[in-house]
Amino acid sequence: MSIDLTETSITEAVQKTFDGAEDERVKELFVCLVQHVHDFAREVRLTGDEWFKAVDFLTRVGEVTTPTRQEFVLLSDILGVSVLVDLINHESGSSATDSTLLGPFYVEGRPAVENGADISGGVEGTPLFFRGTVVDTDGKPVAGARVDTWHSDGDGFYDVQMPEKLHDRLAMRALMTTDDEGRFWYRSIAPRYYPVPTDGPCGEILRTANRSAMRPEHLHFWLHAEGFEPLITMLFRRDDPYLEHDAVFGAKRSLVVDFVHHEAGETAPDGTRMDEPFQNVEWTFVLLPQGG
Ligand code: BEZ
Ligand code: FE
Repeated sequence: MSIDLTETSITEAVQKTFDGAEDERVKELFVCLVQHVHDFAREVRLTGDEWFKAVDFLTRVGEVTTPTRQEFVLLSDILGVSVLVDLINHESGSSATDSTLLGPFYVEGRPAVENGADISGGVEGTPLFFRGTVVDTDGKPVAGARVDTWHSDGDGFYDVQMPEKLHDRLAMRALMTTDDEGRFWYRSIAPRYYPVPTDGPCGEILRTANRSAMRPEHLHFWLHAEGFEPLITMLFRRDDPYLEHDAVFGAKRSLVVDFVHHEAGETAPDGTRMDEPFQNVEWTFVLLPQGG
């Protein structure tokens, strides 16, 4: 450590303070972070005013963040960091199902349900029947996989965004388990494209840049099975107008699926004769072996 630091020498002085870290990875992360943040400040000739604004922005991100309103996750999402981290850690185009970002609307307290359950939680909308199969990279069924799913309603709102309407009940989300043939299935309602929340500090970034806030219509899935890598992914509606313009960069061609429309009078996959139009979606999820 020295006094009389300069604009250049301060970087190494700060980095050296991490020499005592016992964890080499922690040390590597901080030394590199300091390098990049200092380089950034020097490169853009950051003013004191701009830095105070940035600190105020992050303070407000923290202030609006709750267990069901994850503004820090949203910030990472709209800056592309969530998808970048996913791309770094998951090879895309392998024989397994591609992953994508988690998003801010996953809730741990979701109900566990039996296959075939109606998970709409009483929210009205176009009925949607989902049938999934979970297999390994040899196509063998994975029994006992735990599958989380969650999605928006037909107006593009998640349950946690309508606490007054739902009286804080959870809806359109559940945890299921695959049967001996690796299958899981449920009934719900069709989701819709939606804007990411713009009523918090992240909305200011989107408006400042004249950016679209829209996400294409999708269903979320998070799969866990013993002996396999966990998989966080989404399935996107093929004919969605925002597929190529996802505000959080998460849409992938390999995850596009047909939401097949059926007319009233046709029979649903669960044998129900439907007196209203409905949609069917089917997908096979391929899991990578642990460490694979
Ligand atoms: C979502 O898909 O739920 C989501 C992802 C990123 C930002 C906002 C929402
Ligand atoms: Fe979503």
